[in-house]
Amino acid sequence: GRERINIAIDGPAGAGKSTVARSVAETLGYIYIDTGAMYRAVTLSALRSGISPDDRMQLSQHAESIEISLQPSSAGQVVLLNGCDVTIDIRSREVTLNVSQVSAVERVRVRLVAMQRQLARGKGVVMDGRDIGSHVLPDAELKVYLTATVEERALRRFKELDGRDGITLEQLEHEIAERDRKDQEREISPLVCAPDAIVLDSTSMTIEQVADNIVNLSRTKLAEAK
Ligand code: CDP
Ligand code: CDP
Repeated sequence: GRERINIAIDGPAGAGKSTVARSVAETLGYIYIDTGAMYRAVTLSALRSGISPDDRMQLSQHAESIEISLQPSSAGQVVLLNGCDVTIDIRSREVTLNVSQVSAVERVRVRLVAMQRQLARGKGVVMDGRDIGSHVLPDAELKVYLTATVEERALRRFKELDGRDGITLEQLEHEIAERDRKDQEREISPLVCAPDAIVLDSTSMTIEQVADNIVNLSRTKLAEAK
């Protein structure tokens, strides 16, 4: 059919959101939107401009002065900052360590949420983040809260880094737990499980199992929407 829905995938770091969201989008022929990449791009840009992650006023003004855009690509998504490809740069440890503080600034969120809603207005998007089901797309037809134990999530990231950043598994687990705490405790649109979200614990599931599960849920929602 030609019916399309919006799918929101939220959850803590390393739960598998981006990997699974990309796969689900590919299966359904939908557009994948990684909102975390947008917060990372603002963070990278602010750090490059020498703005302190504590300076909320400067961060607000900075976020309103830069151009961020997402382009779907075969590899998932290319992130452009003022027209330059920063897809790789936004994954640096420096950005990861500062992104939660930048994301807590209200005007940063207002700007990015407006962009996200605009991207989703035509339906047919799979959007992953922290506040998608609870705030950005409260009317999304399918909301998934994807989680896993912090030990499992740290292990996944550890394998992914494969020695880069010279960080131990214990350190990584500590940093992930700390980022989760900041994301859950912030005042504006914190990471929460929306009341109407379906909770999936991926701790002992493969990427394929999680993706199949979400594709099946979306087919049910699509049938209901008709
Ligand atoms: O991929 P990873 O789990 O490391 O994080 P991400 O999805 O790239 O998001 C990076 C950070 O951006 C999160 O830790 C949040 O602080 C923030 N974020 C947010 O506040 N709201 C969103 N919708 C998405 C990300
Ligand atoms: O986007 P998020 O931070 O939630 O997680 P991700 O970046 O998609 O996934 C983190 C890592 O876990 C990736 O290397 C995935 O391949 C891996 N993963 C996994 O091993 N098993 C799953 N069920 C899901 C993801």
